[in-house]
Amino acid sequence: MKTVETIEQLRREIRAARSMGKTIGFVPTMGNLHEGHMSLVDQASEECDFVVTSIFVNPLQFNDQSDLGNYPRTLAADQEHLKDRDCDLLFFPNVDEMYPRGQDQQTTVHVPGVSQGLCGGSRPGHFDGVSTVVSKLFNMVLPDAAFFGGKDYQQLAVIRKMVLDLDMPIKVVGVPTCRDTDGLAMSSRNGYLTPSERQQAVHLSRVLTSMIQAIEQGERDYETLSTNAKETLKAQGFEPDYVEVCHAQTLKPATEADKDIVVLGAAFLGKARLIDNMTLTLS
Ligand code: PAJ
Repeated sequence: MKTVETIEQLRREIRAARSMGKTIGFVPTMGNLHEGHMSLVDQASEECDFVVTSIFVNPLQFNDQSDLGNYPRTLAADQEHLKDRDCDLLFFPNVDEMYPRGQDQQTTVHVPGVSQGLCGGSRPGHFDGVSTVVSKLFNMVLPDAAFFGGKDYQQLAVIRKMVLDLDMPIKVVGVPTCRDTDGLAMSSRNGYLTPSERQQAVHLSRVLTSMIQAIEQGERDYETLSTNAKETLKAQGFEPDYVEVCHAQTLKPATEADKDIVVLGAAFLGKARLIDNMTLTLS
């Protein structure tokens, strides 16, 4: 696996692969890779001939500067992980390569609707940063298919809408959430948890699971369900940000008539902000 740091080198490598008739699969990441990221790489290598992964901690999507400064940067370990899998090319640009004219002067992409509320509500500007960097990366890589984790459910919805609205000729593939054996969704931010917080962390997925079970059993008072879930999280030592029952495609609060449901939650535990979600189709 080759690592390149400039757009010029990236384009040269991809042109060479294309000239051999290879299809290009792309996995954008911010590094500190774990099995969740690797499942995207595996899926990309199943569907495409040439797999490109990017690692770029994108300052434009961080609304908290200390979160940006503390974000784990583990290039050597990440390269080792990627070498063990079928990744052909790693793109590892620096901030100047990505934003040569400065972040303030950057043309941005705003995806309306699905970017509002939930994480978009508590992290202003976050999804504009994500859609802007992903559209830049798409234009650099020109992939046939791009792979995103279902763990970041709202992000996946934002990317799908962006690709649709801007007529990008890219297949967006959503990959199911990878979890630790106790059910905690894998995340680079889990590394911020102390051992005892790590024990407690599992309750986020448990609370969402019990909401799904209640809905399956006929509960339709989604507001009370969400309020109770936040109380349970508080009792478990979390500081809940949001817990909501939404329509799986629009991400608007679900109504009784909705069949495709997603339950989403975000909560602080110590220094970590954890997110998770679960979907359900009612018959
Ligand atoms: P990052 O948090 O590094 O995640 C990169 C990709 O890995 C995303 O598509 C995310 O949904 C996926 N992922 C993370 N944890 C996962 C898990 N447990 N199971 C399955 N997939 C998982 O998301 C970003 O980076 C950035 O916002 C990015 C899209 C790269 C734009 O900067």
